[in-house]
Amino acid sequence: MIRINNNWEFTEQWSERFRDGDGDAVNVRLPHTVRLSPLHYATPADYEMISGYRRILDLPSDLKGKRIFIQMDGAAHIAELFVNGEKASEHRCGYTAFRTEITDKVSFGKENRIAVRLDSTENKSIPPFGFVIDYLTFGGLYRDCWLDIRNKTYLEEPYVTTLGLSTAEVECPVNGEADHLVKRVSILTEKGDSIISVEISASREKVTLPVPDAIPWDLDNPIRYQCVIELLDDDGDLLDQVSVKFGFRTMEFRNGSFFLNDKEVFIRGLNRHQCYPYVGYAVPEALQREDARILKEELQVNAVRTSHYPQSHYFLDECDRLGLLVFTELPGWQHIGDEDWKKQACENVREMVLQYRQHPSIFLWGVRINESMDDDTFYEETNRIAHELDPTRCTSGVRYIENSHLLEDVYSYNDFSHNGPNAGAKKKKDVMKEDAPLLISEANGHMFPTKAWDPWEKRQEHALRHARVLNAAMADGDHVGCYQWCMFDYPTHQDFGSGDRICYHGVMDYFRNPKSAAFFYASQGEGYPVLEVTSPMDIGDYAAGMIGDVTCFTNADEVRLYKNDKYVATFKADGKFKALPHGPVTINDTVGNLLISEEGYPADKANLLRKCLLSMKDKGLAGLSASDKARLGYAMLRYGLTFEDGVRLYGIYLGNWGGAATQWRFDGIKDDQVVSSITKAPANTLHLEVKVSHTDLSEGDVYDMAAVRIRLLDEFNNVACYAPIPITAQVDGPAEIIGPSTFTLEGGMGGTFIRTTGESGTFTLVLSSDQTEDLKLNFKVSK
Ligand code: GAL
Repeated sequence: MIRINNNWEFTEQWSERFRDGDGDAVNVRLPHTVRLSPLHYATPADYEMISGYRRILDLPSDLKGKRIFIQMDGAAHIAELFVNGEKASEHRCGYTAFRTEITDKVSFGKENRIAVRLDSTENKSIPPFGFVIDYLTFGGLYRDCWLDIRNKTYLEEPYVTTLGLSTAEVECPVNGEADHLVKRVSILTEKGDSIISVEISASREKVTLPVPDAIPWDLDNPIRYQCVIELLDDDGDLLDQVSVKFGFRTMEFRNGSFFLNDKEVFIRGLNRHQCYPYVGYAVPEALQREDARILKEELQVNAVRTSHYPQSHYFLDECDRLGLLVFTELPGWQHIGDEDWKKQACENVREMVLQYRQHPSIFLWGVRINESMDDDTFYEETNRIAHELDPTRCTSGVRYIENSHLLEDVYSYNDFSHNGPNAGAKKKKDVMKEDAPLLISEANGHMFPTKAWDPWEKRQEHALRHARVLNAAMADGDHVGCYQWCMFDYPTHQDFGSGDRICYHGVMDYFRNPKSAAFFYASQGEGYPVLEVTSPMDIGDYAAGMIGDVTCFTNADEVRLYKNDKYVATFKADGKFKALPHGPVTINDTVGNLLISEEGYPADKANLLRKCLLSMKDKGLAGLSASDKARLGYAMLRYGLTFEDGVRLYGIYLGNWGGAATQWRFDGIKDDQVVSSITKAPANTLHLEVKVSHTDLSEGDVYDMAAVRIRLLDEFNNVACYAPIPITAQVDGPAEIIGPSTFTLEGGMGGTFIRTTGESGTFTLVLSSDQTEDLKLNFKVSK
């Protein structure tokens, strides 16, 4: 297939004149959003329009006799394709691809004009529209567009299923006259080493191939294979060739658990939308892949739900490549429309399964409209379609109602019961009657919206709520997994979100910068040492200056605390989180060993006075109970301490003022080694940190785009969350900045996007502010 993303013309107002080549237009490249939207206060008015796209298609005369197809991977939401003024097709789903044969509408040896009338209004006649929706549904030809030139007789898209772990069944129908032709079906490793190859008559649709030594696709070692099918004529000449990647794996729900290749796996994931600041849905391959990388490598989850629609194949391919379990579902949000609407939803299920079933990462089809009511006739049909087109996978469907009719294999339930003090999750018996697997498909989200610039207590509680829900789901033995809401903040409709119409529900901000909750997820994995201390440790951030308990998210065995380089104490995971791989660590003693090492007190004296000091730390002087006061009085008498002694100890061990600035150091210890360390101390200088998706950009039949995540850090590398200083971004070569070039950081974090402009070469991105040195980042664009 040939990518035809360049050389499109666009208008915000479709007309027949535009279709036929007249009227004003701007040059655009795909992926394209109908209009850029602002970071805050984006609205559907930014994309609700009937726009037009047109492009010239040169088909040389030597293509005569070939069959010509156009494939559009993402056209939001109702697309009508015209070829030389004549309507060729209509597609009524913004989240699945469509393919149109245009052979009889084109002229060879001439210019042809293809045009798309794109309705990106929230048209009530198709899903997900009809009532309210908690996310914006950006418009545009926002994924790739392809030209496919085929022979009269050609190979259709193959479909490989694996039966057990050592047999591949290959379905590869021929379209056209297949008599006397032969198909060669080969299985190769991903690198291209041949494993097995057979020749069969072209009219035979399926063949089963043994691959006895296949290495299974799993989460740690996501091995894929290739299947190549060649169509040969009598003389052995190659007429056509198609190939597909696949993986050998078994996926099974058994006895209330999920097994991948017979190994029990607890599904630990997040929900992902597919939007980005400014450009809505329209980002190219690299950034789709980057989100999968962030989920797997940074957040260290093992699963993602593509809420609430099928997402880019690049994203899915990266989930295949990295080893993430994907729950994907048909488009929709709470509302079920009339019969025609339901017919379209069934068509969407059909397209979803046919277009996505080859991805080994997908383990579950969502065949109910997210959070809709029971509708047995409708959902019997969606289940039937999914099972018929893919007998290898289970179905599910996300509900928020308890005891709804279970027509699927897995009961997925949005468990929004946790509100802080109560249990993390509902008991299975209160959610469903059936003896079927139970999956939490969402939790938290609107129950505790949290901005990156909210006070630290809120950001910490946000993280702890995610921890409590996951712990509860893992602890009770009744859940197969838990997806929480959601990966990052996203723009939404007026009925939801904060005043700026953003749902601050993400464990990351909209640019994919981590909030505290992101570190909780990261700390559940073993991929790299994680240590985050959510308390600021500056007394001005605490009521009455009392630091109280300090929370750490870490995958270390223990955390050792030092004050001004003096050892205080060692802390392990909190016993309340036993089911988690790594429970949060609560530091509840900032005095520890210091009265022995610094004051030279014997152990019993140090211990008693430490207890007195800690009760003051936790409750404040005014909040001391009668027994705290009695203990204090007893200690002073027993050890002959004066009031002045008390004031001095209080000042040194609790007040922390006067003298040298207090420096707290937290060391993460694994196998007796320091594997991570955080220092919190009064800071004086600030600097910018960037994380960029990639600096080697490519140009060609599609533009490239880099995501630049920016944080403002102090000299100890803690986020300077109280400094919303303006940042200016500049580039000096074959690239442009998407969105504003001056912006402020929010909670010490933000970002920008860089897009190539058609040329190759090098360029530098310079980020500057009044309070930091310029940060320069070099990029290369290759053709
Ligand atoms: C759910 C819904 C999600 C999102 C979430 C916020 O009800 O399925 O799309 O709105 O609530 O918590």
